[in-house]
Amino acid sequence: MAHVYVLNGPNLNRLGTREPDIYGTLTLDQIAESCTALARDLGHSCTVLQTNDEAELISWLHRAQDEGAGVVINPAAFTHYSYALRDACAIVSGPVVEVHLSNPAAREEFRHTSVVSGVVTGTITGLGLDSYLLGIRAVASRLAA
Ligand code: DQA
Repeated sequence: MAHVYVLNGPNLNRLGTREPDIYGTLTLDQIAESCTALARDLGHSCTVLQTNDEAELISWLHRAQDEGAGVVINPAAFTHYSYALRDACAIVSGPVVEVHLSNPAAREEFRHTSVVSGVVTGTITGLGLDSYLLGIRAVASRLAA
């Protein structure tokens, strides 16, 4: 059994009521429940965390590296400009899958750039809850391999 961290960046604590036409109506608690259940079915433990603080998100990536865990991360707006977050993702030697509920490539120009995509294992976008669940599956199979 390995551990999977599902890390969420700024404003994702407002899911459910935040721009539901873009992000859907599921709350982060509901997403967390589905992620934890799937990880358990796949034989892994799972912790879902959210912060609005860049430094805290970075420290969780350091923790994942220290523990040999896999990571599913929705960096939210940090995706588009946080080089510190990119560097922290690059530190993690286990699988790191970047996920987005919406499809940033189909939205405003500033969302077309992900500064983390170049250092993660893979990226899944535009599929709502399924982005997270596919991310868990991808991480779980790489932890098992
Ligand atoms: C997001 C997309 C980002 O552009 C945005 O800043 C978010 C959420 C998504 O899950 O679709 O906060 O990461």
